[in-house]
Amino acid sequence: MNNSITKSPERLRSYRWLGPDTLRAFGHRSRLKQFGYEQADWTGKPVIGIINTWSEINPCHGHLRERAEDVKRGIWQAGGFPIELPAMSLAEPFVKPSTMLYRNLLAMECEELLRSHPIDAAVLMGGCDKTTPGLIMGAISMGLPAIYVPAGPMLRGNWHGQTLGSGSDVWKFWDEKRAGNIGQREWSEIEGGIARSFGTCMVMGTAATMMAIVEALGLTLPGASSIPAPDANHTRMCAASGRRIVDMVWEDLIPKKILSPAAFDNAIRVHMALGGSTNAIIHVIAMARRAGIPLDMARFDEISRQVPVIANISPSGKYLMEDFFYAGGLRALMTAMGGALELSCLTVTGGTLGENIEGAAVFLPDVIHSLDRPIYPEGATAVLTGNLAPRGCVMKPAAADKRLLKHRGRAIAFENYDHMALEVERDDLQVTPDHVLVLKNAGPKGGPGMPEWGMLPIPKKLVKSGVRDMVRISDGRMSGTSYGACILHVAPESFVGGPLAFVETGDEIEIDVAARRIRLHVSDEELNRRHAAWTPPPLRYARGYGAMYSQHIGQADEGCDFDFLQGTAPVAEPEIH
Ligand code: FES
Repeated sequence: MNNSITKSPERLRSYRWLGPDTLRAFGHRSRLKQFGYEQADWTGKPVIGIINTWSEINPCHGHLRERAEDVKRGIWQAGGFPIELPAMSLAEPFVKPSTMLYRNLLAMECEELLRSHPIDAAVLMGGCDKTTPGLIMGAISMGLPAIYVPAGPMLRGNWHGQTLGSGSDVWKFWDEKRAGNIGQREWSEIEGGIARSFGTCMVMGTAATMMAIVEALGLTLPGASSIPAPDANHTRMCAASGRRIVDMVWEDLIPKKILSPAAFDNAIRVHMALGGSTNAIIHVIAMARRAGIPLDMARFDEISRQVPVIANISPSGKYLMEDFFYAGGLRALMTAMGGALELSCLTVTGGTLGENIEGAAVFLPDVIHSLDRPIYPEGATAVLTGNLAPRGCVMKPAAADKRLLKHRGRAIAFENYDHMALEVERDDLQVTPDHVLVLKNAGPKGGPGMPEWGMLPIPKKLVKSGVRDMVRISDGRMSGTSYGACILHVAPESFVGGPLAFVETGDEIEIDVAARRIRLHVSDEELNRRHAAWTPPPLRYARGYGAMYSQHIGQADEGCDFDFLQGTAPVAEPEIH
């Protein structure tokens, strides 16, 4: 047991369920004995809830059932009592229409699982895109000590000796297939080679970005986020997290003590240095606001101008997460960031971020560059504003064709995804590489769930002539594994009458990334006329979770949290009668 105990066993939250000599507590104890446990298994011990997002349809978490046993081993070793609580898995490849529709549901589930059970602290097991923010948002709001166990990235993909990256190479080879450069046999071989082990996508997509961000916030053990899923280091990290959470209960080390404006600045700086996913902006804002920190998109843009991309990882660079681990992982990257981080921030270790990265070094300098030899001179994400996106929109300049960062072109407007999907396949579409493709109704309410449609396919006619990038604008998101001159998260979204709803084919649109501007060259009078003639579309859901979602979901610039989940107002502990 840790020396810095601040809590006696009778003050454990779980004691209310398991300690008293009452009829109800008799029921709780007798039902634990039904599992074969003895009173000595739990008496005087913190009960640790392991929130596990393992499922048989989530290959990113395929190893988490076994790894939960390693976490339990650590908890027993440190004098705790583990209880595994399954939570929804949000498998990015399978959940439709979009996992983003359910991130807040997972956050609610995590918070309420912890609240309603005799739990003193939580080990959170996730990694596939929305599971990280969902679990962290729930844990922040619940306010018990919590440690994150990232699932870790899968191994590199392989096809004919060629390295393949999740998502990024799918888009690339899909275009080659559409252009007739590869056939069905090659396509099928790639299908079998691109995902070779359990674990999350192994490019710097949303999963890798969010796992790293949570480590930078101080909510994982040092180095945890970079360990590949099949590596034995991952197993040991799970057991060590189990051991550590028990001490965190005695120390009363709750997320509020760890999460500060400086910790969120660290997370954003790391996001920029990694060339991380645009999706992270939404999630980090949502997590910060749960912690009572009023973060907005402007802070991302400020930091983006200060921190260059130094991780040479796809889709902004050329390596994969496995290489990043061999290069020293996130601890090495944070060391390479020099003075850019606030190293005095507290972490789940009970020590500071500075102590956690002490002794770390970069072993492969082409994978993790130095600040004076960056991959891209500015940060990963630019936030643009203007009359087309009054509350902002984002893009990832490092992953775009540089000629498109200052661009003026005529719009081709699509009313929805189906409209777009049909049009881009037409050989007679009137389109040039200078056109700007605009997709409406892909936002939080319109998608619904803000699907990852933002990397609109290049029209087939242009793909065949070798075009691989053009400006695309939507109120949707883009997979972190995607790339290109895609302008995303336009707020407010078209479905609720944001200006994107009024773009017509032939309008001129101008973007200037250096100036952070986006402009629809249509007069205010004409936009007002179009607005007056616009009829709001009917709500997507008449009942069920979708109806609740539609009623309460916030816009992208607010983090897409439900209005009733935001803030830090206390929720009463459950009564036990
Ligand atoms: Fe799960 Fe990419 S599909 S992390």
